[in-house]
Amino acid sequence: MGGYFLEFANFEHANPLKTPEHIAPVWYFTPFYSMLRAVTVEIGPLNAKFLGFLAMAAAVAILFTLPWLDRSKEKSFRYRGKLTAVMIGFFAASFIILGVLGVKAPSDNRTLLAQITMVYYFAFFLTMPVWSIKANGVKPLRYIITGVFGLGFIALSLPAEGKQFSWFIQLIAVIAGLFFFALPALVERNVCKPEPERITMDGGMGFWRSLALLLIVLGMAIVPLKAAGAESAYDCGTIPCDEFKADASDKESLQHGAKLFVNYCMGCHSAKYSRWERVADDLNIPHELALENLVFSGQKIGGLMEISMSEKSAKDWFGAPPPDLTLVTRARQPEWVYTYLRNFYADDSRPFGVNNKVFKNVGMPHAMLDLQGLPECAPGPVVTSNGGIKVDPLTSEPILGDPCGTYALATEGAMSPPEYDAAVYDLVNFLAYMANPVADESRRIGIYVLLFLVFLLVWVVLLNREYWKDVH
Ligand code: HEC
Repeated sequence: MGGYFLEFANFEHANPLKTPEHIAPVWYFTPFYSMLRAVTVEIGPLNAKFLGFLAMAAAVAILFTLPWLDRSKEKSFRYRGKLTAVMIGFFAASFIILGVLGVKAPSDNRTLLAQITMVYYFAFFLTMPVWSIKANGVKPLRYIITGVFGLGFIALSLPAEGKQFSWFIQLIAVIAGLFFFALPALVERNVCKPEPERITMDGGMGFWRSLALLLIVLGMAIVPLKAAGAESAYDCGTIPCDEFKADASDKESLQHGAKLFVNYCMGCHSAKYSRWERVADDLNIPHELALENLVFSGQKIGGLMEISMSEKSAKDWFGAPPPDLTLVTRARQPEWVYTYLRNFYADDSRPFGVNNKVFKNVGMPHAMLDLQGLPECAPGPVVTSNGGIKVDPLTSEPILGDPCGTYALATEGAMSPPEYDAAVYDLVNFLAYMANPVADESRRIGIYVLLFLVFLLVWVVLLNREYWKDVH
């Protein structure tokens, strides 16, 4: 599951010399972690980090006050009318959004979305005394409580200096604000069903309505996330990532990738969580051929894919030791590695004469220099933060304002640019396979598991019906 149950950080060696660019807790803590990061205001001596911590702690503590916040006479949510369902639906979507944002690197839009959903999280609880019970008459206090949150949302929707927000996310904040202004009036119009003496299993929503509700909530979570994601395309260092889709069933590509990896990368990088034999078997390479062409002399087919360079001397040569690459496509994304390997360019100020747009000032030389040739910076179009290209408003020609917007090959390589891209694809495809050699098989087994669950569901539904048959 892509590191969601066995966290891949556990398989990485810590490097005391280097702080990771972006850390995230495991996903089941991320909704609260998002709140920690979402607080960017400072109040007097209290800095944003401390206030964020307070928000995170308050988000958990507030759950304990629930019995006093909820003033509804109906105990079961089933009888509380549509407004309650809407409030809870928004709440569920907010929580999912906060959770997803917590594992991503922050950007302007993501922070704004986290702020909106965080305010909703607190508004849900703090206005509960208002929306869980009707006032029967005009009570200004109710308008004041909800109005405060309404104003909070409107304030979030305002443009901020130096930030680029997506209009869609600003619109969400405006709608949330208006919703809270109107909340006390909506409560009066909410129709509750009288709760029966004894609550039974009927009177629920039914299967299809539950499913529809689930889809609506997921939709409410996914659409804003997409809107926030589309605006931050700089996921690969200073540039947007190129697209990459691994295909573990393409054995030919994997074989080519393995060959490139052994020839061009294993001079420095090991892959010591992987065995030669496993790779040979998975890639349909006969053992004799593998021993002849892949495995380093002196190593056995059953051995780990280790290298002879010691970490100590590697550190002396490159400043940073080349990390083991078995799990690199998990620690980074395959898109990242793919973009990284195609964005080396000549830079005389660096010890190896090259720099990288994805990994600024990297300590790695351009390993496939003889294949690609040496790219040199050339003026090119300016890529905007949403992945578009800046154009001249008069001629609609791209503005060539970026001194390193494109590359020109200073020296030719053994491959043409499309050939080189294809070779890097094969190489990263191989790395993606190595990070999860059972991906193909898991997918196959997963289908059987799902089929089994569907089969089981039928029997469980029948059994459930049998149990409740005589209960009225
Ligand atoms: C001459 C030695 C050398 C060769 C050959 C080499 N690398 Fe590296 N590589 C390094 C060093 C050193 C680093 C660490 C750079 C740093 O941290 O600044 C590195 C870093 C990396 C990283 C970044 C890892 C991370 O997450 O920080 C990736 C990915 C990578 N190399 C892939 C490759 C691939 C793929 C090849 C084969 C085409 C390759 N390298 C060949 C020396 C090398």
